[in-house]
Amino acid sequence: MIERVDFDGPVILGAGLAGLSAALAAKTALVLSPTPLATGCSSAWAQGGLAAALAGDDTPSLHAADTIAAGAGLCDGEAVALLTREGPAAVRDLAALGAPFDRKPPLEGQVVGDFVLSLEAAHSKARVARVGGDGAGAAIMAAVVAAVRATPTIEVRENARARRLLQDQTGRVVGVLAEIAGDLVEVRGRAVILATGGVGGLYAVTTTPAQVRGEGLGLAALASAEIADPEFVQFHPTAIDIGRDPAPLATEALRGEGSILRNTDGRAFMADYHPAKELAPRDVVARAIHAERAAGRGAFLDATTAVGAHFPHEFPAVFEACQSAGVDPRREMIPVTPAVHYHMGGVATDLDGRASLPGLYAAGECASTGVQGANRLASNSLLEAAVFGARAGRAAATEVETGGEPVSLVPLPDLPDAAFQALRRAMSRDAGVIRDAEGLGRLQDEVATLEAAHGPCPPLVAARLIVDAALARQESRGGHYRADFPEKAEPIRTFVTLDALPAGLR
Ligand code: SIN
Repeated sequence: MIERVDFDGPVILGAGLAGLSAALAAKTALVLSPTPLATGCSSAWAQGGLAAALAGDDTPSLHAADTIAAGAGLCDGEAVALLTREGPAAVRDLAALGAPFDRKPPLEGQVVGDFVLSLEAAHSKARVARVGGDGAGAAIMAAVVAAVRATPTIEVRENARARRLLQDQTGRVVGVLAEIAGDLVEVRGRAVILATGGVGGLYAVTTTPAQVRGEGLGLAALASAEIADPEFVQFHPTAIDIGRDPAPLATEALRGEGSILRNTDGRAFMADYHPAKELAPRDVVARAIHAERAAGRGAFLDATTAVGAHFPHEFPAVFEACQSAGVDPRREMIPVTPAVHYHMGGVATDLDGRASLPGLYAAGECASTGVQGANRLASNSLLEAAVFGARAGRAAATEVETGGEPVSLVPLPDLPDAAFQALRRAMSRDAGVIRDAEGLGRLQDEVATLEAAHGPCPPLVAARLIVDAALARQESRGGHYRADFPEKAEPIRTFVTLDALPAGLR
């Protein structure tokens, strides 16, 4: 017997910044979180901060122009204009909730000082509002979680994992079949908002929490929602290579402060790859590091001069990660590797988070409004989560229809851990920083074999979407680089809708 819960408002899957911003904006919401709040979401691990045109010499149009340039021809201009216009207010709203952004000393007549703003790669201005140097994500999430806890009309269920989206005869999404503390529960609501994060956990080398493994993407695709640009996966150039899974991040802000990338010989190699050197677009830096490592020359971030003795105070999270592996970044270079960090693709939505299926919304990394194009600009992700999460929450709160009875309550299959680990290794090997038809074809076969053995598990389906689209896109653009097609072709976005589920699962 499956327990049933009826909630008079949106049901939100995921409790990172997008999910909780949606809940606060909706005012009444049921949040299903796979982990205790503020742990286990990528938002809490973010180091850099939120990009927004807060400086006197900056404007939303300059921020938009940088976002569009990084997006390599695939950004949706309207989405970018909206994001950058709403950016400053989003930062101020988070500050009002209690997020302790770093501030300059107040000037005469000011109650609080201006935001301290960091420079990051491919930004024409210093515009990243930070907290405690490199602690933005954790501090912002602490403030947002406190606000959610203080809102009695927001209900939170932790240790809850979606096992399928529930749809009525018409295809409308009417709720979710969730496993809550080990029991299957039919959770019905007026809308479902997916805020499940990205796909990092599908790869063996990632900076994101392990449980972030494309679940929302797979669930939506298996309900026949439209998916956009799944091939565009962003690799952060400087994950700290100390054998930890997930790999800790060495924030881009370190390069903004003047840290240099060197190989084992001590050579500052970025000048060989791009005139902007360390501040070149993220995909360029990731490929340069990949190339140095593949050539056996290694890659290291040298912050000894640019940051030096200030390291523990300026970048405490990176300092602690380095120290845990016996590296003292004040005096030694930090070994770095590219690692999966962000998914530009996702569930296709409009600017209010509406997906292609009635009753379904998506926000944050698991959504694709087109705002991130083929390559996200640094520190636009928390901003996207706050801005579009709130928009999705407000829109979903206006849904009045409850829809009909779900046509199926059969949970989608789960992927056993051994198969999942095999998938992660194969994804890192063949759908990584540099791809080609041979590797992607081999990976496609491996994913098909796993699917034949285990059925359409959401993470496997997410992997299939990435691989199929990466094979189909015969060009190099942004985060997607094909060694066999190194040039750009027409700037066309990918949109995919999967066929219906196999009969037993419909
Ligand atoms: C970083 O701090 O380097 C990550 C920021 C981001 O991914 O936007």
